[in-house]
Amino acid sequence: MARYLITSALPYINGMKHLANLVGSLLPADIYARFLRAEGEEVLFICATDDHGTPAEIAAQEQGLDVREYCRVQHERQYEVYRCFGLSFDHFGRTSSPQNRELTQYFYRKLDEHGLIEERQVEQIYSARDRRFLPDRYVIGTCPVCGYEGARGDQCEKCTTLLDPASLIHPRSALSGSADLQLRPTKHLFFKLEPLAGKLRQWVESHPEWPLLTRSIALKWLDEGVRARGITRDLTWGVPVPRAGFEDKVFYVWFDAPIGYIAATKEWSDLQPGERDWRSWWYDASDVQYVQFLAKDNVPFHTIFFPATILGTGEPWTLASYIKAFNWLTYYGGKFSTSQRRGVFMDQALEHFPADVWRYYLIAQAPESDDADFTWEHFAATVNKDLANTFGNFVHRTLVLTAKHFGHRIPAGGAPGPAERQLQDECRRVLTAYRTYLGALEFRKAAAALRELWTLGNVYLDRQAPWSLVKEDPNAAALVLRTAVNLIRLDALASEPILPFTAHALCDALRLAPEERTIGRGGYPGLADQLDLLEAGRPFDIPGPLFQRVDETTVAELRER
Ligand code: 2FM
Ligand code: ZN
Repeated sequence: MARYLITSALPYINGMKHLANLVGSLLPADIYARFLRAEGEEVLFICATDDHGTPAEIAAQEQGLDVREYCRVQHERQYEVYRCFGLSFDHFGRTSSPQNRELTQYFYRKLDEHGLIEERQVEQIYSARDRRFLPDRYVIGTCPVCGYEGARGDQCEKCTTLLDPASLIHPRSALSGSADLQLRPTKHLFFKLEPLAGKLRQWVESHPEWPLLTRSIALKWLDEGVRARGITRDLTWGVPVPRAGFEDKVFYVWFDAPIGYIAATKEWSDLQPGERDWRSWWYDASDVQYVQFLAKDNVPFHTIFFPATILGTGEPWTLASYIKAFNWLTYYGGKFSTSQRRGVFMDQALEHFPADVWRYYLIAQAPESDDADFTWEHFAATVNKDLANTFGNFVHRTLVLTAKHFGHRIPAGGAPGPAERQLQDECRRVLTAYRTYLGALEFRKAAAALRELWTLGNVYLDRQAPWSLVKEDPNAAALVLRTAVNLIRLDALASEPILPFTAHALCDALRLAPEERTIGRGGYPGLADQLDLLEAGRPFDIPGPLFQRVDETTVAELRER
């Protein structure tokens, strides 16, 4: 039996994340974790805030806060929003934890022992106006590769190229805007990747099943030839470098951030030391399937840099088994941007619509094979069609009609006939597809299969027309409604990974016992055999409308905002 370790890319601590961050790693990771748990698998779902680095320092400075205090507050804010979105982390840690400091220093020492760390004298950008060195994002300029004018010193957001601040054209300070910059000598530690290139290639090539996006970016990197990368910075906020002469420096954020996956697992384990064992997930763990979720700009770090850290130790630390990468979700054709406050942010999103509406909409448009575009018009059309008119309408008319003719109890009716058997076959077919897609991490297709399952209910009701049947043959109408109420249970359980709050509300409305809220041994396809599980006479409640329609006025208002 495999155990599943699932991580979502660690969101930067600076500021509320937007919908593109949500759909590009957090949400699919959660859906996958929920799916596996429902299928009875052992799952550990880990995330954390990525606390270090220049973005956090810059944001704290802008707010006049101590960076520690800034991170504490932001961590709480982010965690609260993730809870409201139903993200079911087993632990949500932070890379500024003592556990991460200890592990990061451990990995560094191992790499050093293996001769993979090199001290180098380098020229670095120094700002006279700011009276300091300007690492990474402290420098902004034009990308030497694609010409994007807002490129940051560490990476071009536009073309994903990893950069050296000194390579930017027309560089300026992100702190003061000053262009009065000069190169000054200083020393830094470099992680030599060349000796690991062969092993990295072997590892990437041993995974032909990975998404094309992941593989193509990884192989492009390897084909271009990996070279040593600086892993220290002239900053005070970060993991201290345990080496003489480096007292004033810290590790580069991308060195300690992925180690944060391990450290956050240790945080989880340290909360219940006797019962939880982080090492069993990360060290010599051949039964662990480790699945990572991330956006495409993170692929180089997860296919080259982090695995190099792991491979470089020569120790059996867990490497990713599968890396699911996403393209961008755009906002009216442009980028979502934290710094420019462009797009919809997660806290605002919840002020307008409930979490499940977002979860469904976003995963149904997940930017898997290509970028996907967010517009309020498309959002409204999808919510109205799929959620309000299909899922919501089926639930509502089933329960209202049943209550009208038979009271708030599941009616008796006869044994299932050909129409019910046909419905069952169709449910099995759709649920099998749904499970296959979720298992293969094909989220758009999974959402489409779920939508098809909801549609089956409406098609069944329309064909059987219990509203007219009840006049001639109340017993036949009772069978239809009993089956439809049971189908609501199937819909609820199947929807749970994507719409957990709605699923829960429906289980409550049907007053299900705990064991009736699980899909059972047969997994999702096995639900089809449970179309007659809830017996006649059981009481139910009618929940309020599950989903509100989004009208044109609201769309216009939201777009304006
Ligand atoms: O791109 C980002 O948002 C990074 N904070 C992701 C870090 S993932 C991991 F390796 F820590
Ligand atoms: Zn670029």
